[in-house]
Amino acid sequence: MTRPCTATRLGHLFWTLGYKAGNLLERVPGLKSFMRRPAIGRLRQRILVHYVNGLEDRRYWNQTEMPALLGAGFQRILFVGCEPYTAWIPGTFEECEIECWTTDILPDNGQWGNPDRHIVADIAAIEAHPLPEHFDAVLFNGVMGYGVTGEMMAAIAPVLARLLPPGGLLLIGWNQGLVEDPLALPTVTQWFVHRAWRELPARQMFARSTHVFDHFLRRDPS
Ligand SMILES: C[S@@+](CC[C@H](N)C(=O)[O-])C[C@H]1O[C@@H](n2cnc3c(N)ncnc32)[C@H](O)[C@@H]1O
Repeated sequence: MTRPCTATRLGHLFWTLGYKAGNLLERVPGLKSFMRRPAIGRLRQRILVHYVNGLEDRRYWNQTEMPALLGAGFQRILFVGCEPYTAWIPGTFEECEIECWTTDILPDNGQWGNPDRHIVADIAAIEAHPLPEHFDAVLFNGVMGYGVTGEMMAAIAPVLARLLPPGGLLLIGWNQGLVEDPLALPTVTQWFVHRAWRELPARQMFARSTHVFDHFLRRDPS
């Protein structure tokens, strides 16, 4: 991952201030209706995208994880959790001829998923929906800690394992201090082995972020 230059750091500071100012203004009682105006919402969304893309872990995702995923020879992947700053991801996979299915529990978040292959669902109940039989990878970044607790993840791990063939990739991105370490969840380690994947380490941590990326491969049941 490249180190940010001073201009990039200043840019990130600018978007961070904008993002934090928006959150503060939202709490001012007299400004509530102003902050709910559609134009303000669109502006805040653009600020959010710039802010998130400047974070150390997101730069790693964009510059290191994505190229590795795009070059892995996958045919089909499942991307869980859609936000404005991930809206570019489904189209990028599809352009590389990788079928990208997206899913989110919130109906509104479908706007940032793949218009042709999006499922509104709780990931724990995804099997109730019509889906291809297998995916080469499930990308589960930022969902643990943002809707899915450690306890819920323990129940979700077997569901994700059934979507993957032996050797299939499960990428879990999570935050230390926010949610349990997935390696401490017995169903995760029962179904998956924690492994370096391609040129990437089994676990990637960051100096200035609590975010962690963990690579797991679906165990072979035999
Ligand atoms: C912090 S965002 C992470 C977005 C994205 N995956 C990423 O790489 O940053 C968390 C997303 O997970 C979704 N989510 C939370 N709980 C979920 C669940 N049980 N099933 C499916 N999606 C869920 C939220 O609606 C939200 O869009």
